[in-house]
Amino acid sequence: MPMSQLKDRFGIITGVAEGLGNRIARAYAREGMRLALMDVQTQKLNELAAELIANGVDCLPISVDLSDEKQTHHALQQALDHYGTPRVLLHNAAVLNERFFVDIAFEQWRKEIDIILQAGFILSKGVWPLMMAAGMGSIIFVSSGSGLKGFEKEAAYCPGKHGQEGLMKVLALEGKAFNIAVNTVTPGAPINTPMSHGHYPEALRQQWIDPDLLAPAFVWLAKQDTAFATGERLDAWKMSQMLTG
Ligand SMILES: NC(=O)c1ccc[n+]([C@@H]2O[C@H](COP(=O)([O-])OP(=O)(O)OC[C@H]3O[C@@H](n4cnc5c(N)ncnc54)[C@H](O)[C@@H]3O)[C@@H](O)[C@H]2O)c1
Repeated sequence: MPMSQLKDRFGIITGVAEGLGNRIARAYAREGMRLALMDVQTQKLNELAAELIANGVDCLPISVDLSDEKQTHHALQQALDHYGTPRVLLHNAAVLNERFFVDIAFEQWRKEIDIILQAGFILSKGVWPLMMAAGMGSIIFVSSGSGLKGFEKEAAYCPGKHGQEGLMKVLALEGKAFNIAVNTVTPGAPINTPMSHGHYPEALRQQWIDPDLLAPAFVWLAKQDTAFATGERLDAWKMSQMLTG
């Protein structure tokens, strides 16, 4: 099975200040990747970058509100100017603000959708010609059960995640000829992150796992090309369990 090593390869990760993205960024750093790290929480982002740099990691923190089209374009350009062609684009950032449909304002709806879907489009569109020219790349959208099913109070999050699934399917078809793998990954297990703290009922808190346990799946996927998987919706918990025995 074709597999590329990640050492010195360039990856872009969104939503790294805390939660799952933070753990994936650390896992990619352990693989020796050069990383463009994006988040809206500037202080936590810079703290992560400082820690990684102190440990010899080549990374660039980019403070950006991914709900903002111009900021997202600018952030991507900064990353590409600094590091060139990315091997991996991992769009993980998202927000989930639970509100009944009757209560959600258009601007609130738009912001959640834009972080999840618009940023996914802009970032993918920006790396696409570079990955085409390189003849390889891995684009990963972090999805959710809300990418398949409807849930109350998720009139923005749910269509955003469904939209990511649709975008992934189209890009996977168009990327195959250029060996660009495009997949979504759902956590597959309740995870202990700040997002979960805001939303999980007690029963789920009893079962939640450390997001570090999902990192092996994201590392594995970043190494693969289209021969392993493209156009798939993968389960990070199942994959990580298989990879770590
Ligand atoms: N927590 C869960 O149980 C769960 C379940 C299914 C899917 N997911 C998905 O997993 C991914 C990670 O979730 P998490 O639980 O770690 O979330 P989290 O809220 O703990 O972390 C999300 C990160 O995204 C960043 N972010 C939010 N808005 C941003 C913006 N406008 N611009 C830039 N960065 C922004 C945050 O600052 C944070 O660092 C998300 O895509 C989420 O939808 C999570």
